[in-house]
Amino acid sequence: MTNTEIASGLGEINREGGRVSVDDKRMINCRADVNQLLPLKYHWAWEKYLAGCNNHWMPTEVSMQADIALWKSPNGLTEDERRALKRNLGFFAASESLVANNIVLAVYRNLTNPECRQYLLRQAFEEAVHTHTFQYIVESLGLDEGELFNMYREVPSITDKAAWALAYTQHLEDPDFRTGTPETDQAFLRDLIAFYVVFEGMWFYTGFAQILSLGRRNKMVGIAEQYQYILRDESIHLNFGIDAINQIKIENPHLWSPGFQAEVRTMLAEACELEVAYGRDTMPRGLLGLNADLCEQYMHFITNRRCAQIGLAPVFAETENPFPWMSEMMDLKKEKNFFETRVIEYQSGGALDWD
Ligand SMILES: [Fe+2]
Ligand SMILES: [Fe+2]
Repeated sequence: MTNTEIASGLGEINREGGRVSVDDKRMINCRADVNQLLPLKYHWAWEKYLAGCNNHWMPTEVSMQADIALWKSPNGLTEDERRALKRNLGFFAASESLVANNIVLAVYRNLTNPECRQYLLRQAFEEAVHTHTFQYIVESLGLDEGELFNMYREVPSITDKAAWALAYTQHLEDPDFRTGTPETDQAFLRDLIAFYVVFEGMWFYTGFAQILSLGRRNKMVGIAEQYQYILRDESIHLNFGIDAINQIKIENPHLWSPGFQAEVRTMLAEACELEVAYGRDTMPRGLLGLNADLCEQYMHFITNRRCAQIGLAPVFAETENPFPWMSEMMDLKKEKNFFETRVIEYQSGGALDWD
């Protein structure tokens, strides 16, 4: 059997294959059977799969009545708020698909571990739920669907971000791409960093801050609640990505060379710059409680935090988090939503009754 067949799990069955030992399992370039979930090696991956399942939600459960009334009312939102909101929705609408396609078409086949793949399958579904959210918002508010979904090709500050990330997944899209050499293993790591650390871990956060800031002023509370659930999902996606990157580093220390570390720090600095440009474009004059300068400071804070999480020296001088309220938005442990537009308790719902 070729290494590719072993990695995919879809090759000829090895009838003499022995049982899987935990010690044989690896994040990348694994030769142990990827079709056997147990015995578990990476408990952090399984825990995140369970956490994702416990956080199940659907966008259609959130009432959009207040948002529809505010959106249709001529004085409900300022022109600047409408511009920021539409660009924010446009950025997320296509980004959820880009992230999903990267998981399914680039990450899944190269991550040779069944508990990580179990998590990726859950994450892929969550990205579908997020894309569904933007379909539901467009339909509820009667927005121009072409304008919103094509924004990532029409608005340069959004296109620049998408193009930056796509360059990393395009390396992996070549049907002949295989991990297994230091060069290709590093290409795979770059893709994980571009999508998990930058896309989901940095760029989504300005977007969350914009919408949740509106929600805190009692505007577009339905969308704000949906973003709160997306943020909760994304914080697990980000943490899965960070654990995966760090585990690959532990198993392959030669990949994390000083030269590669410098390259990754440059990647994060570039990504931060793109986000700052996006902030200026979406909020040219600032909104109540939020402006491009504060978003720039927030992005510096977030970039340094992401550096620390993957074991890199900070890129920017130490700075305070200008949006400390974002952490309370993330804390949904009590299963009570901040904006209280619905009353659904999945976690206490119990099992299905078959009688
Ligand atoms: Fe998402
Ligand atoms: Fe995500």
